[in-house]
Amino acid sequence: MTSVSIPKTMKGVQMENFGGPEVLQYKNDLPVPVPESGEVLVKNDFIGINYVDVYWRIGMMGFAPGGIIGREAEGTVLSTGPGSVNDLKVGDRVVWLAMGGYAEYTAVPASMAYVVPPDVKPGVAAAALLQGLYALTLTHRIYQVKQGDWVLVHAAAGGVGLWLCQLLKALGAQTIGTVSTAEKMKLAKENGADFMINYKEEKDLVKRVEEITGGQGVNVVYDSIGKDQTENNVKVVAKHGTIVTYGAASGFPTSIPPAKLAAKNVRFVGPGESSLMRYVGTPQEFEKWCAKLFDTIIKDEINVRIHDTYPLSEIVRVHKDLEGRKTTGKVLVKP
Ligand SMILES: NC(=O)c1ccc[n+]([C@@H]2O[C@H](COP(=O)([O-])OP(=O)(O)OC[C@H]3O[C@@H](n4cnc5c(N)ncnc54)[C@H](OP(=O)(O)O)[C@@H]3O)[C@@H](O)[C@H]2O)c1
Repeated sequence: MTSVSIPKTMKGVQMENFGGPEVLQYKNDLPVPVPESGEVLVKNDFIGINYVDVYWRIGMMGFAPGGIIGREAEGTVLSTGPGSVNDLKVGDRVVWLAMGGYAEYTAVPASMAYVVPPDVKPGVAAAALLQGLYALTLTHRIYQVKQGDWVLVHAAAGGVGLWLCQLLKALGAQTIGTVSTAEKMKLAKENGADFMINYKEEKDLVKRVEEITGGQGVNVVYDSIGKDQTENNVKVVAKHGTIVTYGAASGFPTSIPPAKLAAKNVRFVGPGESSLMRYVGTPQEFEKWCAKLFDTIIKDEINVRIHDTYPLSEIVRVHKDLEGRKTTGKVLVKP
């Protein structure tokens, strides 16, 4: 086992209970984890925030190990545990997808850490990893988007949303985005959406989608909102279309009677089947999709939009802003 000087304690955010943002407690004296077999210890420089962190905080996902949530970060390998660590070395700059990110240091499986290509600027890998991998698998694996497809993207100015708008443009699809403000409409359009609907103001979203698509509806709906959009999704999807439900920002999607899907021969991809880890959960898949992610960022000149970079000590404000729909694109945190 190789190592450099590593402190015993660290700053981090711990949760003892589920609840509102105030359950996130910033501490100065958490133990620095020790990497176990096959793990590396990473000093995190940029922590990626995701809406799924809210689900962990409120108890929709169970307890995180050590009470520390956070699915991703970018940083430097400080030490390696025993066993195989996939040729990772002390000093490597990596981005990782695991758990325990709201901290200065995290021990993660080496198989879920990826060496950041040298031409990717600091912070971009943490901003891109989870949301970018997910948008790629949504458009290339869960439903393979074809040129000319009509696509409805809910929350189009969010982290995953802005990625989808850009990838769909590159694939030659026609994208209709939904958002809650005029500023978000502008942003999603600048990032590739062809048509925008403000679902706070538009009284009849279904009619508006029908007008835009000339009555045929959309080939695929990407829905991260859940409950508030379930009925609309069934109405706006075209015959033989696909509804992908992958989030629950407004609450779990209501159940759709099978007859309603059968009437239009609709494929429904629910929360289990749409889970990111189903597609990038093995070391081989993670490696393959990360290579595609960084290739796409560089070749397609993806705009990885960073809303803001907050200090970790202000984690309560981060969650308030995220849940309060004040953010667009990616939120980063610095320990
Ligand atoms: N299944 C998986 O494996 C997986 C992986 C990654 C992400 N996801 C899901 O993808 C979704 C997007 O994630 P993200 O990190 O990119 O978040 P995000 O889209 O940046 O933020 C959530 C957005 O949802 C919209 N929203 C609609 N109704 C809302 C409500 N009642 N409360 C709060 N927000 C509401 C807001 O946009 P407007 O103001 O424009 O409405 C808000 O900005 C999340 O639901 C997340 O769980 C799932």
